[in-house]
Amino acid sequence: DSMEVATENPHGCENTSDAEEERDSDNDVGPSKLGTKEYWEDAYQKELETFKEIGDVGEIWFGEESMSRVLRWMDKAKIPENAAILDIGTGNGAFLVELAKHGYTNLTGIDYSPASVKLARNVLQAEDLMDVTVKEVDFLNCEGELKGFDVCIDKGTFDAISLTPDNAKEGKKLYVQAVKDVLKDKGFFAITSCNWTKEQLLDRFSEGFEFVQELPTPNFQFGGKTGNSVTALIFKRVH
Ligand SMILES: C[S@@+](CC[C@H](N)C(=O)[O-])C[C@H]1O[C@@H](n2cnc3c(N)ncnc32)[C@H](O)[C@@H]1O
Repeated sequence: DSMEVATENPHGCENTSDAEEERDSDNDVGPSKLGTKEYWEDAYQKELETFKEIGDVGEIWFGEESMSRVLRWMDKAKIPENAAILDIGTGNGAFLVELAKHGYTNLTGIDYSPASVKLARNVLQAEDLMDVTVKEVDFLNCEGELKGFDVCIDKGTFDAISLTPDNAKEGKKLYVQAVKDVLKDKGFFAITSCNWTKEQLLDRFSEGFEFVQELPTPNFQFGGKTGNSVTALIFKRVH
């Protein structure tokens, strides 16, 4: 139905909901290639080559501010420097670099794209940050592999998973369950999303989570248009 999303907008961030159509909150985002492993593998393979050639880390999804905003919250929340932190769908690992530079010492990044894992390792190595773990893991199929995290960070990964062409509904469920499984009791989940509103995220992460706060975000500029804003929310894992 809404295949145009991928061609219109490489970020998949356009709100495709049609005012004339009643959609349930799960169907606001149409399927897109951004929900496929091939897309990311191809993208990070190219970024890896560029990084090796000119040292450019590639795309910082939602901009630098999307990282500083979470880091500021971590400072305020007094997240200890040795907290176990997981970056879900780390991509180029840029967030891991920022976290490490900020003083965090127990960092893990995962991604299901092998090229992303290579790129993130290269980027970290170039910054002399060798103590960060980067693993190739499919977050939706990681039973027992990851656990005991104090903080989980997601920037654009739940968005990508929501765009899975086949069975996005199941993917979203698996995602929520995986976040629950990997977090310690009272651990935090910091999500930055361009595809979902605050209300939709509150609805999605209602069971097993307590809403802590929303981090203020400016309007997101895209192709000369404004109006798309990212949402950044903090949740706490509760039983
Ligand atoms: C929009 S990118 C964001 C990357 C990074 N978080 C950032 O902010 O730059 C989405 C990322 O999620 C990863 N991803 C998508 N589905 C995944 C899954 N099931 N398990 C692990 N990583 C996944 C993709 O490979 C990609 O790196």
